[in-house]
Amino acid sequence: MEATKTVLSPEARREAESLMKKYPDPGAALLPILHIAQREFGHISTDVEEYVAALTGLSTTRVHGVVSFYTMYRKAPGGKYLLQLCTNVSCTLAGAEDLLGHLIRRLGVSPGETTPDGKFTLLTVECLGACGSAPAMQINDDYHEELTAEKIDRLLDSLV
Ligand code: FES
Repeated sequence: MEATKTVLSPEARREAESLMKKYPDPGAALLPILHIAQREFGHISTDVEEYVAALTGLSTTRVHGVVSFYTMYRKAPGGKYLLQLCTNVSCTLAGAEDLLGHLIRRLGVSPGETTPDGKFTLLTVECLGACGSAPAMQINDDYHEELTAEKIDRLLDSLV
């Protein structure tokens, strides 16, 4: 039975159902469905885990295990802007560690934390698939590539 308070919008639910139809095993659609849920609800709470379990027919234990394992799922409410800096090999070779230091100094938070004004949440993530134009960072749904500290400053200044 689905949770009563946590319900995907009709459009998002259609998206999730269409994903489930593509796979004989609903577990195969779990990761993209969790992405849809995170987009809708902002983070994956226990209520959202239960809702996704009911929607997919999977156990809440399995859904919780997946949410806990992957850093890309936010377990708590975050800032208005989610900054996901790639620190995998190509980006690190292109200076991601320096950019991470720059972000930590500028924002005054460590990876996994949100600025006190609730504007930015900083995360480090694995490869974003933009290795050819490293270093890369995703801000909410947008990719930013060939980053420098100056580019990051301009980007952050432009976000209201
Ligand atoms: Fe950073 Fe691939 S290593 S985008």
